[in-house]
Amino acid sequence: MRAVGLIGCGAIGTVLAEAIERRIVVCDELILFDLDKVKAERLKNSLAFPTTIVSSFEDLLKLNPVIIVEAASQDAAKTYVPRIVAAGINVIVMSSGALLDLNLDLTKVHVPSGAIGGIDSITSALLAGEVEVALTTTKNPKALETQDKKPKVIYEGEAREAARLFPREMNVAATLALVVKPAKVKVTVIADPNTRRNTHKITVKWQFGEMLLQFANDPHPDNPRTSALAAWSAIKLLQNLLKQ
Ligand SMILES: NC(=O)c1ccc[n+]([C@@H]2O[C@H](COP(=O)([O-])OP(=O)(O)OC[C@H]3O[C@@H](n4cnc5c(N)ncnc54)[C@H](O)[C@@H]3O)[C@@H](O)[C@H]2O)c1
Repeated sequence: MRAVGLIGCGAIGTVLAEAIERRIVVCDELILFDLDKVKAERLKNSLAFPTTIVSSFEDLLKLNPVIIVEAASQDAAKTYVPRIVAAGINVIVMSSGALLDLNLDLTKVHVPSGAIGGIDSITSALLAGEVEVALTTTKNPKALETQDKKPKVIYEGEAREAARLFPREMNVAATLALVVKPAKVKVTVIADPNTRRNTHKITVKWQFGEMLLQFANDPHPDNPRTSALAAWSAIKLLQNLLKQ
């Protein structure tokens, strides 16, 4: 019996559960945990797939899933991920910013590429020597909780700080910071009322060339801060891990 645990039944959790329902990911049972029980119940009711709701994190561990997907928040990840690792269970972490503050054995911790890609090329370039990575993220002010009426740079700095200042919006910066550490990633965040999409432009200078990666993602209808690509990257990672 191979059960998948899911912490967080919001935008990403719902897309992931639907992929399990459609057998894109093959497992036997889905276990849902959300602090907001109504969300867990709504999701379970939308599925025909064998699904169990648990009312506590401890109950989730007791059911011994082969893997748990965290799709809740940085605070949730900081609380639960160390305990999942201590229980010897694999975990996919969406709220990657949390990992910047945790000193964990990462053997069982898996970070999807999230709302971006090209991590494979960046890690390859790192093998050759130093890399310089810069990220410019542009979102509609609604997705950044600002009221700007004109395009405005609302943050310039470094990825770790960006992920702390924007814990729900800038996990992409955290993911890049984890990949290139100890090197730093230069980050610019722009609130632009003229855009609907969440756009991440990544430039990489490395020993033997340059890369320009750009992702223009439609915002998720239930959560404008989140892009569908983030959910699908977790689904792909889950699919791969369950094949092992
Ligand atoms: N890595 C990436 O590229 C990337 C991209 C987008 C979103 N994210 C992150 O993924 C996470 C989920 O995103 P989302 O859009 O699905 O969010 P969401 O707000 O739509 O859903 C989160 C769900 O988690 C639940 N939750 C919150 N804290 C909890 C806790 N302590 N225990 C149990 N349940 C809890 C909420 O009730 C909610 O139902 C967020 O942290 C978000 O910042 C990462």
